[in-house]
Amino acid sequence: MIKKLENHILYVNKFDAQNIDEIDSFKIKFLGRKGIINELFSDFKNVPADQKKEYGQKINELKNLVSDKCEKLTLGIKTSSKSITEDYTKPGFPISSGSLHPITLVKNRIIEIFSKVGFELSEGPEIEDDWHNFTALNLPKYHPARDMQDTFFIKQDPDVLLRTHTSSVQVRYLEDNPPPLKIISPGRVYRNEAISSRSHCIFHQIEGIYVDENVSFADLKQMIMYFTKSMFGKSKLRFRPSFFPFTEPSAEVDIYWGLETETDHRITKGTGWLEIMGCGMVDPNVLQNCDIDSEKYTGYAFGLGLERIAMLIYQIPDIRLFFENDVRFLNQFR
Ligand code: PHE
Repeated sequence: MIKKLENHILYVNKFDAQNIDEIDSFKIKFLGRKGIINELFSDFKNVPADQKKEYGQKINELKNLVSDKCEKLTLGIKTSSKSITEDYTKPGFPISSGSLHPITLVKNRIIEIFSKVGFELSEGPEIEDDWHNFTALNLPKYHPARDMQDTFFIKQDPDVLLRTHTSSVQVRYLEDNPPPLKIISPGRVYRNEAISSRSHCIFHQIEGIYVDENVSFADLKQMIMYFTKSMFGKSKLRFRPSFFPFTEPSAEVDIYWGLETETDHRITKGTGWLEIMGCGMVDPNVLQNCDIDSEKYTGYAFGLGLERIAMLIYQIPDIRLFFENDVRFLNQFR
């Protein structure tokens, strides 16, 4: 009886098929309800006790062999017949083109506007040290002004942090380059803030700084006017006195947005004015911290939040949408 089984195994090993039909009948012959395997199983009771174990193992071996064989042969026939049945004149699968993230769109637009008037691009690291993010910017340790920008530190080394603003790039650039210099630096920044529809612990800024001899506040105003006109088509501005440790004097800039539509009312909270950036004359202490002669050189700096501007331009009601990677949202910016 064992001999009979072994002959089946030999046969299966040698079996080959030209098409799916042949494989099917092979399969039925062995694995069908009235097939060889079932027949062998029903013979089991006639097998002498001392051979039962070997017989059982061999049946299982045969069964697995048949399944493997069918699988292998089917695969072989499918792949070899593909080249014949495939219709190469059929239209291809469409490749869907992606779209730029709204923040990238706004960033590119702003870079374009400033590079037209001579600003170069310079980027800095998101993981900063205390010196570049705070101390060199006239925010010494334990100074209360640090409270305005809490961030994420690591316990082992409080000197390492996620930058709270792109102003850190001012310091990096001033340290390495003698004036005159004129750069903008876009990038991601972090703050320890409660997340809401208006604020997030992660967002983007663009920083600008210009240092040369005889740079004045009038130059700053002129540049901001040029920017708002190019970006929003609006040039009625308001400079509100403000405080930043790294600029003196400091101001916040509002543009007159208007009150013509329902949306205008919502955007400006009914005042017509909208805050768009912080700016000021670079504090002499910052220049000195970077080994630049503050008697000889002066400069201005400004910083604006990209999410705010994107929300404004595209009428996006919730800042969280920028970070959720929902294609239904992202698809809309083509
Ligand atoms: N760094 C400031 C902020 O994040 C913005 C700013 C930049 C203000 C440059 C003045 C000059 O709020």
